[in-house]
Amino acid sequence: MALAATTTLFASLAARADFAASEPTVLITGANRGIGLEFVKQIAARDWNVIATVRRPAEAAELQAIAAANPRVAVEALDITDHAAVDALAARYARQPIDILLLNAGLTPTYPSAMKPLAGVDFDIARQSFEVNAIGPLKMARSFMPAVLASQKKQIVVLSSKGGSFAESPKLAMMYEYRASKAALDMYMYVLSFETAKKGVTLTLISPGQVNTLQDPKMREMMRRMAIEPVESVGKMLRVIDSLTPADNGKFLNYEDRREIAW
Ligand SMILES: NC(=O)c1ccc[n+]([C@@H]2O[C@H](COP(=O)([O-])OP(=O)(O)OC[C@H]3O[C@@H](n4cnc5c(N)ncnc54)[C@H](OP(=O)(O)O)[C@@H]3O)[C@@H](O)[C@H]2O)c1
Repeated sequence: MALAATTTLFASLAARADFAASEPTVLITGANRGIGLEFVKQIAARDWNVIATVRRPAEAAELQAIAAANPRVAVEALDITDHAAVDALAARYARQPIDILLLNAGLTPTYPSAMKPLAGVDFDIARQSFEVNAIGPLKMARSFMPAVLASQKKQIVVLSSKGGSFAESPKLAMMYEYRASKAALDMYMYVLSFETAKKGVTLTLISPGQVNTLQDPKMREMMRRMAIEPVESVGKMLRVIDSLTPADNGKFLNYEDRREIAW
């Protein structure tokens, strides 16, 4: 009883004066471009509070413009492989309940290098992919768990990929570095879901589909016929996120139809 009362009191204290205590708060990693930036746009449009984390805030022009026009969007510097920085940010937001910890940042393959066979595997990128795609999200989940527990929604949403699924990835020798790191991410989150089940936290992985987030304008144009735009992917993922219940803890869901993706 005393613990429940303390939790409620904690949840009612908003650390940031510019955040609305009545609205949910979402922390998004990798918020400067691609899917992460689109999440900021669509979630900020709901008037929710957004903590948008990026590696280099000074270079995140589009995100900074959104934050300048909306006091409920806070931009924070964060490289998720820097564990001391993750802890420092979590300490700064210790009194801010986080309803949705949205772990989006990832080291994604670029074409055509991702298509290389065994002889082309880059072991530095392989190691870095594990740091960014698997260990980084696990560290974020650990450091921000108290803030998630103090919130109303208590959700952790993680962007994974069918590329990391043994059952559903293409039966092709490609993207060694990326696919192995996403499979590791899935297993870390699968294991963690047995802890979140006991804490009342809903931890769900989502596949965003094949999304056109390439930066090179020529490549973007080329991809237009093969991939959906971030606006569509994020719109559909938010519908899935809105529908999450504790029964979705430990599941890996598809962005458009909520279908459960096999590991
Ligand atoms: N696009 C797709 O088709 C697709 C498909 C399946 C899954 N996904 C997953 O969806 C997520 C977003 O994909 P996307 O296409 O939007 O990727 P993206 O355009 O390549 O953007 C990746 C984001 O992650 C950030 N990031 C990279 N390393 C980081 C680090 N160490 N610390 C913090 N942030 C870091 C990047 O920041 P910088 O700008 O500083 O590099 C950028 O903001 C990823 O997890 C990806 O694997 C995407």
